[in-house]
Amino acid sequence: MSKVLSAVAWPYTNGPRHIGHVAGFGVPSDVFSRYMRMAGHDVLMVSGTDEHGTPILVLADKEGLTPMELADKYNRVIATDLTDLGLSYDLFTRTTTANHYAVAQELFTGDWRNGYMVEETTRGAISPSTGRTLPDRYIEGTCPICGFPEARGDQCDNCGNQLDPTDLIDPRSKINGETPEFVETQHFFLDLPALADALREWLDDREASGTWRPNVIKFAKNLLEDVRPRAMTRDLDWGIPVPIEGWRDQPHKRFYVWFDAVVGYLSASIEWARRIGDPERWREWWNDPEAVSYYFQGKDNITFHAQIWPAELLAYAGRGAKGGEPGEYGVLNLPTEVVASEFMTMEGKQFSTSRGHVIYVRDVLDRYGADPLRYFICAAGPENQDSDFTWAEFVQRNNSELVAGWGNLVNRTASMIAKSFGEIPPAGPFEPVDEALLASVRGGFETVGRLIERQRFKQGIGEVMRIVGEANKYVADTEPFKLKGEDERERLGTVLHVLAQAVTDLNTMTAPFLPHGANRVHRVMGGEGDFTPMPRLDEVTDLDNGKPYPVITGDYSGTPAWESRPVVVGTPIAKPTPVFTKFDPSVVQEEIERMRREDSAGEDSTGEEA
Ligand code: MF3
Ligand code: ZN
Repeated sequence: MSKVLSAVAWPYTNGPRHIGHVAGFGVPSDVFSRYMRMAGHDVLMVSGTDEHGTPILVLADKEGLTPMELADKYNRVIATDLTDLGLSYDLFTRTTTANHYAVAQELFTGDWRNGYMVEETTRGAISPSTGRTLPDRYIEGTCPICGFPEARGDQCDNCGNQLDPTDLIDPRSKINGETPEFVETQHFFLDLPALADALREWLDDREASGTWRPNVIKFAKNLLEDVRPRAMTRDLDWGIPVPIEGWRDQPHKRFYVWFDAVVGYLSASIEWARRIGDPERWREWWNDPEAVSYYFQGKDNITFHAQIWPAELLAYAGRGAKGGEPGEYGVLNLPTEVVASEFMTMEGKQFSTSRGHVIYVRDVLDRYGADPLRYFICAAGPENQDSDFTWAEFVQRNNSELVAGWGNLVNRTASMIAKSFGEIPPAGPFEPVDEALLASVRGGFETVGRLIERQRFKQGIGEVMRIVGEANKYVADTEPFKLKGEDERERLGTVLHVLAQAVTDLNTMTAPFLPHGANRVHRVMGGEGDFTPMPRLDEVTDLDNGKPYPVITGDYSGTPAWESRPVVVGTPIAKPTPVFTKFDPSVVQEEIERMRREDSAGEDSTGEEA
């Protein structure tokens, strides 16, 4: 048994989440965490909403709210969606808690005390009307190389060249159109060059483990080719104050959003320990070198999880070229694995909130439920390469795999038992065909378990469905519906007993992927209550200032073990209602038309922080 930290990317509170988001970080991390608990590990799964940074400010202005009001609004929306999707966080909190401020400041102070936060003067763009920094990607102008009129401050999308905002001809703010002012400003830079050797040593060791996805390790190693100090503060009035003499009280100096967001994994672990009344408990996942940690995210986050966060941790421990001493949190574990997904497109195009080319998690949950979405993401999500969500494939996979495959197996098994015996019958002597199915099912625990442990979710669910196919074939081969004679009753009982065992075990294997469905199947098969625990949304108050907010949490101590459970002869089984729902093919057209109607013009406000 190991301590396993499941560290899940923190969604920005700049709008509701669309299905591309949860395909990248949400569902994969939940399948993994649920499985690891079932396999007997001590999992701590943490995340929260990421509430600082320019995108939040920009949207707040647009919606006529303060950044805090906007964060409150979408924190609740997002936490509700993720709960209903069944994501089993031990704690899903937010970055505007007093606890998070204190932990992020302690990390910064530790990095600074050890000499890895260096103050430097730079030239930065600010908005003259607000005094706020304008990140490169929020500045637009004419490309000096190709003349494209809508080049961004970081690059020109027309000719592909990298740019600096000062290169642009006629630079203007994408936020309000005004001309940015370039001023000298002081910032703290994380001294990545002084941490490069330590980072390389860590990455070499990780590469040697051979377990990272090839794209991710390649990308991470590439980052080391060009390490420069990176600014960890911004001229902003929204964010965490810089806890250094002379900076602390400056209203326009705040942490760079990514500096504090990645600290969230640690601060949420600490908040979790405080909330369960065992405030030092987080250390079991962070200070014990035997503990392992898995960081789940989309591929645009790799830089921050495979470089910035490890660098912050190494600097805090004093493990860079400048030496140093660890602060009060001690030597903190570096990531064991950075599990990054590729991107999901939709009907062939990138998601875009502003263009209405988007499918919100909430809408799918309301109209189709959690299982079909989780199933699609597991079976066809962007695990190792970009993938495309289409309504046609969504409906087809639901109808032919979930409903006609797995749901049908459950349904015919329970119906036949209900009709012929009313309870799980005893088995007579097994024939080879019975032994063969039971062996396949038993073998699934090993193969599917290994696949999930290595984050090969697509193959994992594929293997479960392959065994479901074998079980359906077993029904066709043994033809229990034809065993009607009194002299065939024992054989009928045996076949139905074998099927009950297969369904029960396959249900255990689907539980990490389809926890809602697993609970329904459990009841169809005569079980009581829930088979696998679900998260809940709790209203809590900030531990330090009493402000209320919702958190996702749960009691997962009742998680079933990843093993075969022998069925109990005599368990009553009633005539079942279907566990999954077939969708009419007309849904495809309806959804595509709905999207067209919602098409609206406007600029994209969902960009990530530069
Ligand atoms: N908010 C970021 C995004 O949506 C992810 C932050 S992950 C964390 O891309 F590391 F900062 F926690
Ligand atoms: Zn250009």
